[in-house]
Amino acid sequence: MSFYVDLNPKCSLKSHPVVMSKKDSATSKIAAKSSEKDPVSELVYPSKRVVQKANVKEYEAMYQRSITDREGFWADEAKKLHWYRKWDKVLDESQKPFYKWFTGGKINIIDNAIDRHLKTWRRNKIAMIWEGEPGDVKVLSYHALNREVSKFANILKSMGVKKGEIVTIYMPQIPELPIAMLACAKIGAGHSVVYGGFSVEALASRIDDAKSRVLITADGGFRRGKPTDLKGIANDAMDRSPTIEVCITVKRTGEECMMQTDRDYWYHDLMSLPIASPDCETEKTDAEDLLFILYTSGTTGRPKGLVHTHGGYSLYTSTTHRYVFDIKDEDRWWCAADPGWITGHSYLVYGPLINGATIMLYEGAPNHPYPNRWWSMIEKYGITILYTSPTAIRGLMRFGDQWPKRHDLSSLRLLGSVGEPINPEAWRWYHEVIGGGHCPIMDTWWQTETGGFMITPLPITPLKPGSATRPFFGNEMAVVDDNGKEVKPGEEGKLVIKSPWPGMARTIYGDPDRFVETYWKEYEKQGWYKAGDSARMDEDGYFWIIGRIDDVIKVSGYRLGTAEIESALVSHPSVAEAAAIALPHELKGNAIHTYVILRAGVVASKELEEELRSHVASELGPIAKPEAVDFTDALPKTRSGKIMRRVLKARALGQDVGDISTLEE
Ligand code: WTA
Repeated sequence: MSFYVDLNPKCSLKSHPVVMSKKDSATSKIAAKSSEKDPVSELVYPSKRVVQKANVKEYEAMYQRSITDREGFWADEAKKLHWYRKWDKVLDESQKPFYKWFTGGKINIIDNAIDRHLKTWRRNKIAMIWEGEPGDVKVLSYHALNREVSKFANILKSMGVKKGEIVTIYMPQIPELPIAMLACAKIGAGHSVVYGGFSVEALASRIDDAKSRVLITADGGFRRGKPTDLKGIANDAMDRSPTIEVCITVKRTGEECMMQTDRDYWYHDLMSLPIASPDCETEKTDAEDLLFILYTSGTTGRPKGLVHTHGGYSLYTSTTHRYVFDIKDEDRWWCAADPGWITGHSYLVYGPLINGATIMLYEGAPNHPYPNRWWSMIEKYGITILYTSPTAIRGLMRFGDQWPKRHDLSSLRLLGSVGEPINPEAWRWYHEVIGGGHCPIMDTWWQTETGGFMITPLPITPLKPGSATRPFFGNEMAVVDDNGKEVKPGEEGKLVIKSPWPGMARTIYGDPDRFVETYWKEYEKQGWYKAGDSARMDEDGYFWIIGRIDDVIKVSGYRLGTAEIESALVSHPSVAEAAAIALPHELKGNAIHTYVILRAGVVASKELEEELRSHVASELGPIAKPEAVDFTDALPKTRSGKIMRRVLKARALGQDVGDISTLEE
């Protein structure tokens, strides 16, 4: 069974029939419905019960106010947080594009995410429900979470971790991952979480860039019933990165792993020492003090560490989370992203905890042991809001309606989507089969760089399947051409952000010039931020994201750089040159296709193709494994030697290659 994934909202659904199994009656009903309607003009209105509960009852007036008095708007929202010292200035624009927010203010995100809840009834509220893939469960109240975080914060201090230093975290989705992040923040140290699905080179290069002295990891985690070998990868990465002096390992799988004397410590051994006291004072950080860096892929092979800070990030994640997902104290919030990506940072850990929510964390694969795993957990824990990616939805939709239909999903009130454009078929399935037709879908557009939602509906917003709708409060967005002129409604252009917002990344760690060059140079005159996405805005002011226009590939919603994949290929002894491009994929959104020029004397073969694919997976991680490796004698390049990926892509898709006047040969 296969189904068509439409990444282009303007495409007629009729010209791309959805292929569905006949047995799958509910799904085919949705598919049939969707082919009758034009997805662009159709509006889906929120149900009465959602509107009645909504935190924001009217968008337009509040948006206008947030634009005409941006600083006033954000100052009012900031008053909902706890500050050790009030700010002197809301927005400091004196060193654009290095904007500063709430300067002079003293605030720590942990004081807001944990400490202040301990003084209220929320002390005994559930902060986190965790389910491991094998079925083991842990539940932590805010009180219990505080104890774990404080104990570990004291351990970090005893290891000499200082304010401002960067601790690297490489872990599976277990409670100790958020605990480690929160412990760093509590003592004013920065964290750099490296996604647990990444491999040796990805981890080593991130440790190097951050010059981390301390690494926190685990022996492994469970994925599809098997233990992963995280410590083995961490050991290899530490061999390549000489800066690590201390490695703390959580015992999760119990599999044997190599521990090096004087460097490696077991987490549980340390946590049972007297030094791991549950009393630890939260550091009174400045609003602009570094909270974390998170590496993301860009146009060069070197990953860039985006810097986020205590003040603006606390404010932006909590405000967006509260308004967009209408958070109430009785909610059970499940953001199914890995904490190793920005979605996990902002909306699994920080935003929801600041809002005093109960968060759900699940370790493993969505279809293990059966494709009803997620649906059974929604029923079991009474989840009220689910936030996930189109890839996950498409992947689960593939198994048919019978899996969600086995479960009572009536606890759900709202749904969310992030990471890539959601095609109307997946949208409708999510809306009708999972949400019972009455849960609006918050399709949130944002980036690692933005810290939080930028374009997003509110629960009251009439929705158009496939559109992230309108800008969040305070944000002015536009679709422009190369000269910065706004394109006409319906026309494709580049997405820009015209105004600063509190959650914006402050810089690239250790490389401020690259920050300016990457995001602010192209529209320097206007002072706009270039998102790197192409988009359209329709007559109603709704935004439709088309996809990346730079050298970033979104595979299953995960962000990868063509340059990282290419350098992984070139690190293999058989490869002289390589190019990576994204081609549409029905499940993953995009798949990686690569072209390789072999070194002289090396003979192309099916075995070598397999070897190269596996090589990329073991250097970067399984998500970066190319779909295909094509051997070639030449690559299309400009006269200055830049690979013209656009030409490769057009050729692979059988399209016109366009202007090739700059092509060398
Ligand atoms: C894409 C993920 C369409 C986009 C939070 C963006 C989306 C990139 C959406 C950032 C959405 C994110 N609709 N595309 N709702 N959300 N994207 O840094 O291309 O991992 O630039 O942050 O994901 O990816 P990142």
